[in-house]
Amino acid sequence: MSVVVDDALRCESIDKAFPGVQALAGVSVTVRRGSVHALLGENGAGKSTLIKIMTGAERPDRGRVLIGGRPLRQHTPSAARRLGIRVVHQERQIAGDLSVAHNVLLDSLPRNRLGLVSTRGLITAAQRQLDALGVEIDARARAGALPPAAQQLVELARAVSLRAAVVVLDEPTASLAGDEVRTLFRVIRELRAAGTSLVYISHHLHEVFEVADTATVLRNGRQVLDVAVADTDSDDLLRAMFGREVTHARLPRIERPRPDEPALVARGVSLRGALAPTDVTVRRGEVVALCGPAGSGASELAEILAGVVAADSGSVTAGHAGPVGSRSRAARRGIGVVPADRKRDGLLLDRSVIENLSLGTGHGLSRWIHRPAEARRAAIGALAKGKVRVASPSAPVRLLSGGNQQRVIISRWLLAGCRVLVLDQPTAGVDVAAKFDIYAQLLELAADGLAVVVVSSDYEEICGLADRVLVMRGGGVVATVEGALATPDSLYELETGIRAEENRV
Ligand SMILES: Nc1ncnc2c1ncn2[C@@H]1O[C@H](COP(=O)(O)OP(=O)(O)OP(=O)(O)O)[C@@H](O)[C@H]1O
Ligand SMILES: [Mg+2]
Repeated sequence: MSVVVDDALRCESIDKAFPGVQALAGVSVTVRRGSVHALLGENGAGKSTLIKIMTGAERPDRGRVLIGGRPLRQHTPSAARRLGIRVVHQERQIAGDLSVAHNVLLDSLPRNRLGLVSTRGLITAAQRQLDALGVEIDARARAGALPPAAQQLVELARAVSLRAAVVVLDEPTASLAGDEVRTLFRVIRELRAAGTSLVYISHHLHEVFEVADTATVLRNGRQVLDVAVADTDSDDLLRAMFGREVTHARLPRIERPRPDEPALVARGVSLRGALAPTDVTVRRGEVVALCGPAGSGASELAEILAGVVAADSGSVTAGHAGPVGSRSRAARRGIGVVPADRKRDGLLLDRSVIENLSLGTGHGLSRWIHRPAEARRAAIGALAKGKVRVASPSAPVRLLSGGNQQRVIISRWLLAGCRVLVLDQPTAGVDVAAKFDIYAQLLELAADGLAVVVVSSDYEEICGLADRVLVMRGGGVVATVEGALATPDSLYELETGIRAEENRV
């Protein structure tokens, strides 16, 4: 039998079960040379599990993987790498204590004639990789100090740093801003033109239409659709993903009282090198969006508002409740936070789903400390409301799919009964149906008086949620826009200073 050279990657009849779930059942996927194959499906559908099997991180119960026609016999990441596959996983895989350069060249450290790693060679080579990606990241920086979006770009530079036959990207755009996504797409197109094949996971269907040639939809671990992207539309894909009609129209505006008394007031807060002195007031019942890419100061401002980071100057007060200085004081004042890097800052990965749900501010939950049964009931109610898919609420959070982990952290704060909620990229990695559930829950709570601050690079999300948008660039607010008047194009133009049409592809 001859080898079919056009197939860069084949997965044949893959089964994979975990305790309590059949993650994959009889899945077969073929990716042709020089093409982009999208893998779609709701949270928990089995996408990351399939990626882990393709790239040797998990062993299938049945079936086999062929890379460039050669079977993957040993199911280890290094065996898969030897066959030419590279991956950027959904969870960041960054050696935080090492330099960016070490992280970029982790799999191919340049050695001198004595076999030693030459630091200068390392930095030069890594910087070249980063520059080729068009990203402004210093190869000498400590990788752990970078924000999540930059870490993701470092991993991307690593994945494309060798002449890989197949590059697999599991939700690469989840924490990237508009211009970073554009950069990524340019790189994907260049790789494809050079004959590399890509497997691409995203919950943003418009991205699939922009970069993918073919797509597979998984639902409950089964393959429900294989199509050429040119032959389908988003309604078809959504129907296959969810097994029902999902509307993705604009959110209905829930009638809310006019925002009234201030819930959170920042005066002249600044952070050296990141944020110029800034004033913000967020009122009860108001949703304020901070819109800006990494480096704009939006995440830093949110961290100051939530007491995660202490400002170098200025003050934050929680309405009549008093000053916010530290995270613990902010929590006592009823300020909840969904941080950008939730694996690090938000979740106790080895603790159960229930325990993670009960970690909210003392505000709503302290009364449950001595009433575990009641706490459990409340948590189970929140799981149902947040539609978190989990085999058992006692399972460690680590075993949940990425989107379901995100739902846990959001549900925790929706349950906690806080007065102010600060969320950084709240729906990163959440599937489109669940996204709208989260928006609806947030708007309902705002109607009850919750003040919401949301950092987002998803313009649709901002336009759907915000009463007021603060557009940030270079460490300061450059424009304030009424939510009702904001459009994705206008936000993009304000954020980047580039006209939207000029940048369409
Ligand atoms: N190591 C594990 N142990 C137990 N269950 C697991 C493990 N890894 C994944 N699962 C379960 O397998 C199912 C599929 O998970 P997977 O991570 O592949 O979903 P996904 O499609 O990537 O979802 P998302 O869009 O949320 O990232 C989920 O029910 C998940 O909880
Ligand atoms: Mg996943």
